[in-house]
Amino acid sequence: MKKFLAGLTVAAIALAGAATAQDAPFAREIKARQGIMVYRSIQLGVLGGMAKGEIEYDAEAAQKAADNLAAAVTIDASMLWPMGSDNSANPASTALAKMWEDGAGIGDKARAMNEAATAMQAAAGTGLDGLKTAMGPLGEACSGCHKAFRVPTN
Ligand code: HEC
Repeated sequence: MKKFLAGLTVAAIALAGAATAQDAPFAREIKARQGIMVYRSIQLGVLGGMAKGEIEYDAEAAQKAADNLAAAVTIDASMLWPMGSDNSANPASTALAKMWEDGAGIGDKARAMNEAATAMQAAAGTGLDGLKTAMGPLGEACSGCHKAFRVPTN
């Protein structure tokens, strides 16, 4: 009986999820991928703050942020980007449909970010100079993709 009730709860949760997704197309995928992006920007904020001198450099904290960022850019999030889940289908998203039309372009941008995040992971804990050097390409990798594949925000 307990098992049966637990099964019902799971089914109810699944149904609730499906209903939300139906109300606004791809709402859950969009929410999840935006969450991953925000997580990245929190890690980048620590590294960028240290690079700018707004946060005192701390090798351990820098390494942790860089490790977190590297992990966040390597997880498989491909299921969170179904075709048609762009801004025109759901205004909660700022993704442009161009993302799906230009597979090579988006692949290049993603690769650039992975390389920059790997370089940051190698440099962040070694000293402030190394962190600063790795910061440029990393910031450019994020903004390069946003400029190409997101609705302009200003
Ligand atoms: C390969 C392309 C690409 C790269 C690289 C990329 N982003 Fe994004 N980012 C996007 C897209 C597309 C969106 C819009 C997602 C949506 O709203 O559906 C987005 C949205 C965001 C958002 C807004 C999330 C929200 O709540 O609406 C933040 C913050 C963000 N990215 C941070 C970053 C940071 C930091 C990096 C670099 C470490 C990064 N992104 C790298 C494509 C990218």
